Amino acid sequence: MDYKNILFNVDGNVAVLKFNRPEALNAINPDVFAEVNSVLDEIEKNSDIKVLVLTGEGDKAFVAGADIKHMVDLTPLQAKKFSRDGQDLLFRIEELHIPVIACVNGFALGGGCEIAMACDFIYASEKAKFGQPEINLGVIPGFGGTQRLARLVGNNMAKELCMTGGMIRADEARNIGLVNKIFPPETLWEETMKTANQIASKGKASLKAIKDCIDRGSNVDLTDGCYMEADAFGLIFASPDQKEGMTSFLEKRTPEFKGELC
Ligand code: CAA
Repeated sequence: MDYKNILFNVDGNVAVLKFNRPEALNAINPDVFAEVNSVLDEIEKNSDIKVLVLTGEGDKAFVAGADIKHMVDLTPLQAKKFSRDGQDLLFRIEELHIPVIACVNGFALGGGCEIAMACDFIYASEKAKFGQPEINLGVIPGFGGTQRLARLVGNNMAKELCMTGGMIRADEARNIGLVNKIFPPETLWEETMKTANQIASKGKASLKAIKDCIDRGSNVDLTDGCYMEADAFGLIFASPDQKEGMTSFLEKRTPEFKGELC
């Protein structure tokens, strides 16, 4: 598939997807959904890819939301489908078998903030701005914003952000736990890739098990979550990475993880 609205490349074990509609601050519409879905198909088939990084083209925006020009004349049923299609795409990102890092280089508003929240964690430029401004357009978040934001930062903070439609700075987003780390704009990319490559050097099965245990474990009580963890811990011993990791420690050398998912 020829991509017109995104850029996609693979560098070693790290794949990079850039939202690329700078004329609309990378706002997303059904064409973008189709292209991102196609990239996710590619990633699922390419076992060399161990980490995905999402970012926005240009220095102004990660993604400034769903495309308002696309939404303005939607019927209620079309709007519901648009919302469900966006939600489905974000579930695909959230549940991808590899870690996904959001590198937020500018505005992450509405659907942009929602995409970032579907990633495993967010690194942001000190100049980035976050928010759910849908209320200013007479609507509400539609790609999981009321749900993921509340789970990440708590109900009251999520209500304040969604009800005021205000934007917060990157340092405020870090203080409320939405963003893991912030960097000057000049070093954001380098720092993100450093972490992406560090994660890509680990074992695939361990990465997936950590992602699954934390994501799925947060929906169950501690006892069931720990039970799930013990199952995953046991299953990892089916991966050659377990032997390699432990043997390399005992032999005082750096491990080389080559195992597939188990
Ligand atoms: N959809 C479509 N076009 C958008 C857009 C969006 N979400 N955000 C920005 N653009 C376009 C602008 O219309 C403008 O296009 P023109 O040059 O053709 O007029 C261009 O991008 C540049 O934007 P601005 O001139 O507005 O740039 P600015 O620096 O003055 O302001 C901004 C930047 C504060 C991000 C402002 O563009 C803005 O408020 N954008 C809308 C943000 C928003 O409301 N997002 C939520 C969308 S709804 C949603 O996402 C629902 C959901 O959950 C499903």
